[in-house]
Amino acid sequence: MKYVFILMLLVVGAAAGAWGAAIVVRWNDDMTQTARIVPGERVFPMPPGVVPRDGELIVPKEQRDVAAKRPNPVKVTDASIAIGRERYVTFCVPCHGPEAKGGITGLVATKFIPTPDLTNAELQKQRTDGYWHSYIVVGGAVMPAYGEALSSQEAWHIVNFLRSVAQK
Ligand code: HEC
Repeated sequence: MKYVFILMLLVVGAAAGAWGAAIVVRWNDDMTQTARIVPGERVFPMPPGVVPRDGELIVPKEQRDVAAKRPNPVKVTDASIAIGRERYVTFCVPCHGPEAKGGITGLVATKFIPTPDLTNAELQKQRTDGYWHSYIVVGGAVMPAYGEALSSQEAWHIVNFLRSVAQK
């Protein structure tokens, strides 16, 4: 009887040990087996409908037609154009060139995809303020999004600036 008891104790002990070991092994390399993302490796697009704190609704790229219909809430004034120009020089010149003429006028553009001439009268006529605002905030086909670097308000200022350099 005594041996049966000891045998049972051993069996239960072995089972518990094996179970524990399985947990420890799995737990031990959970961190190395999990898909992980290195900082800066990927840009996460905001899920649709997300409203940032102190911000406003960001219409995703896929709904550009919706964004294109938004009216420009920022009046065209010298002050607005000046802010727009200042932000343009900071964020856009590397690709679009100092005069927004596109092609390979920007430092980055020589190594990137040549940008369109934003002063082009035909393009200026085709695009609404909302469309360009959306382009700046959520990006284009290859153009990066600037929604995190610029406020929505600043993007409207840039649109006003771009309108001011339109070819007549
Ligand atoms: C890394 C390079 C790069 C930067 C920086 C950049 N753009 Fe662009 N942009 C492009 C390229 C390339 C295109 C054309 C292809 C595309 O649609 O993505 C483009 C297209 C555009 C268009 C034309 C959209 C249309 O078809 O009507 C506008 C307007 C524009 N950019 C504005 C800006 C503004 C404003 C900034 C600064 C906040 C900026 N871009 C920064 C590369 C850039």
